[in-house]
Amino acid sequence: MKKSETLLARRNAIVPNGMGMFSPLTISSGKGARINDVDGKEYIDFAGGIGVLNAGHCPKPVVDAIVKQSRQLIHACFPVAIYEPYVALCEKLAQLFPHGRKTKVMLTNSGVEAVENAVKIARQATGRQGIICFTGGFHGRTLLGMTLTSKTGYKIGSGPFAPEVYRLPFPDYYKHNDGLSMKAFVKRELEAFENYLHTMTDASNVAAIIIELVQGEGGFVVAPKEYIKGLRTICKAKGILFIVDEVQTGFGRTGKWAAYQHYDIVPDISVWAKSMGSGMPIGAVIGRSEIMDKTTKGTLGGTYLGNPVACAASIATLDYMKQIDINKKGEQVGKVVMDFFLSLQKQCDSIGDVRGLGAMVAFELVKDKDPNQPDADLCKALIHACASKGLLIISAGTSGNVIRVLSPLIITRQQLMKGLNILRKALLRLTGK
Ligand SMILES: Cc1ncc(COP(=O)(O)O)c(C=O)c1O
Repeated sequence: MKKSETLLARRNAIVPNGMGMFSPLTISSGKGARINDVDGKEYIDFAGGIGVLNAGHCPKPVVDAIVKQSRQLIHACFPVAIYEPYVALCEKLAQLFPHGRKTKVMLTNSGVEAVENAVKIARQATGRQGIICFTGGFHGRTLLGMTLTSKTGYKIGSGPFAPEVYRLPFPDYYKHNDGLSMKAFVKRELEAFENYLHTMTDASNVAAIIIELVQGEGGFVVAPKEYIKGLRTICKAKGILFIVDEVQTGFGRTGKWAAYQHYDIVPDISVWAKSMGSGMPIGAVIGRSEIMDKTTKGTLGGTYLGNPVACAASIATLDYMKQIDINKKGEQVGKVVMDFFLSLQKQCDSIGDVRGLGAMVAFELVKDKDPNQPDADLCKALIHACASKGLLIISAGTSGNVIRVLSPLIITRQQLMKGLNILRKALLRLTGK
């Protein structure tokens, strides 16, 4: 029996059924965009631990920073005794992502913890309770995170969910354009939002709206720029805070530090995690000082948040990303993948849509070229076929029919092309080409 089969059997015996499994792979080590499984087989990584490894597996400066910090101080609990790496990381993040004249930052252990705290902050700052989120959105797996999340498969049997959460249709032009031009579509969606504030909940009850500008788990659906600008304007006029979830889009993934930088807007609050720590558990809530400071002492905190080792890893990650110009790498990887997928679409009728922003690129598998007939079985078969040929790739989409690329952005051109060619061959073979 192979070591990977033994490990899988041990996993199944001890890990509860509810734990998801995106691919059949085991992993024992990683470097850059390459990983090895427990049998020593090598793979190209197009998953990046779900968008966590923009700077690659185990970048040397990050490993060195982790080793150095863990020799000096592993834990203190920031509310008990403050330490410099926490403050330094907050300063760096505020400098990278200014939210208005003065910005404040809170660190967390994860993306969903950042989301939870952003909601707490927005509620305290506005004195309102309602939160508006979107269909297709994913914001994590705590009770509030699941409430804000749209994909029902992630929520089965886990309710009742948190109250005062309202959901708008995400402006998905591919699925819901109804023959309208983009301009007319955006107008219709913005009118629907204003109407929603009359029919579902009054604006005076809404603390914040939370949105992924490019939906991650939802299948890399890109919100139209004019829609976001219009939404931001309406929210501002009605005192609704604008929270952008950058957990999956951040740190070069879209070719910029933040996806919101593509939209000519600045959110009131933003939430971050994943690639900011190269795999160490760390996230952040960033916001305008007037908002962040409307919180009562003691309402924000936690034992591990902003742990010194995670902070050191994050500081080293950000410095390294600047040094290698991560945004340029995001742009370059994105262009190669987008061109490749567009040309593959011409060869394969099962690809209904190719879309993305920067290096957040995906294609949607459908039957009969119909956006409303998702082909999740083909998607699953494709992931398995790729794995057997040495490529780790994962799916997305509320129907599980989207193939997404979240490779490390430091992937070499040769690795990228090798991975894309494995994907192409496997898809054409599965679709009988
Ligand atoms: C957009 C978005 N928000 C929040 C989360 C939750 O982050 P975490 O898994 O670190 O709690 C995720 C995770 O995939 C995400 O993609």
